[in-house]
Amino acid sequence: MKKGKALYNHAKKRIPGGTQLLSKRPEMLAPNQWPAYFERARGCETWDIDGRHYYDMSINGIGACLLGFNDPDVTRAVCDRVKRGSMCSLNPPEEVELADRLCKIHPWAEQVRFGRCGGEMMAVAVRIARATTDRSLVAICGYHGWHDWYLAANLGESDSLRGHLLPGLKPLGVPRELRQTTIPFHFNHCAEFQNIIDRYGKRLAAVVMEPCRGRNPDPGFLEFVQKETRKCGAKLIFDEITIGWRLCFGGAHLKFGVCPDMAVFAKALGNGHPIGAVIGTKNAMAGAHDSFISSTYWTESVGPVAALAVLDKMRKINVPGHVEKIGMRVQNIWKEQGKHYNLPVVAEGYPCLSHFKFDHPQHNELRTLFTQYMLERGFLAGCGFNPTLAHTESVVALYENAVAEVFADIALALTQNKVKEKLKGPPAHSNFQRLI
Ligand SMILES: Cc1ncc(COP(=O)(O)O)c(C=O)c1O
Repeated sequence: MKKGKALYNHAKKRIPGGTQLLSKRPEMLAPNQWPAYFERARGCETWDIDGRHYYDMSINGIGACLLGFNDPDVTRAVCDRVKRGSMCSLNPPEEVELADRLCKIHPWAEQVRFGRCGGEMMAVAVRIARATTDRSLVAICGYHGWHDWYLAANLGESDSLRGHLLPGLKPLGVPRELRQTTIPFHFNHCAEFQNIIDRYGKRLAAVVMEPCRGRNPDPGFLEFVQKETRKCGAKLIFDEITIGWRLCFGGAHLKFGVCPDMAVFAKALGNGHPIGAVIGTKNAMAGAHDSFISSTYWTESVGPVAALAVLDKMRKINVPGHVEKIGMRVQNIWKEQGKHYNLPVVAEGYPCLSHFKFDHPQHNELRTLFTQYMLERGFLAGCGFNPTLAHTESVVALYENAVAEVFADIALALTQNKVKEKLKGPPAHSNFQRLI
């Protein structure tokens, strides 16, 4: 048995859930086939622990590495800081410069708090909003992490979070008493949002939403949410953890011209090094002075140093322009090759967060077979593609050739009704489930 597979089989017994992030479970792409562990990574290339080389045409660090893996400028800055010591009994001065820069990029913001992870920073933002308003309820639209305040949306309802990226999450371990403290609404649904305001407005601490994820807000939607949120005295929090920096430099809300009271960043801000930020107006951040929000590793230096190097690079290079171009090319490959081989391929999403689906009852088997065949050709590939600065036209050309071959093989398997038979393992999981 290969080293990676043996290690992962052991991990599943030692580490409940196998990995620390659902999306990095091999089961989410191709069970028993997707390589679980990497030895090294650079640009859009990865070497697994069995020595196989892959081009990453998939999630690219789940969107954390917008500049590509191990970006030389970011790595240099981080290594330099590590050599001088990245943690001691004093604070990193870089965090003050980072706070200033984030406020300069987002002129509506006046204050900043830092942490290291996305979900964690969302919990910080919600705590601040609750402290500032002295209210409890939160309305949400989108995915905002694993914490109690968010999963509380599914307490008592079978699946309130359906339509918010991850359906079917059971609120196991979340106190029942949090029931009806988190109320979901759907993107672009003004009437649904208005209902929440009418019913809970006076008790709302915050409206928390991704300003967009796969498509633009309808004209006036964000403005409507902003107006009603402010009218009822709640704080508007935009979750920019995934879409920020990739749709435009800074938060996506800058593109739409609608400013929140707080915005939250993580992932691409550190390009693979943990750093997260809540930025906000003085008024919205008032509660942060009095609420106890404090953690040891929020004071190490690698995160802020990485973020400063990322901002330096992104100021000089049009990263959103590049990933839009590459994402568009890839969406066209899916569409053209899908049409050529008469496959029901539907490409969706912003080019910077591209994905496709097989509009077919066997979608799950088909996407697993796609991943299986692409792995055989040296590509980490699934239905989602997060382009990075490291993806060049020549890598995309290699990918195009592979997709053409793979779509031809899938079309043949479909015609012969042999899709299941061709799979070397079970089909991919489409949601969170117990592994053993
Ligand atoms: C919009 C959004 N918010 C929050 C999170 C949680 O971030 P993290 O996984 O860093 O905790 C994610 C992660 O995918 C996300 O996409």
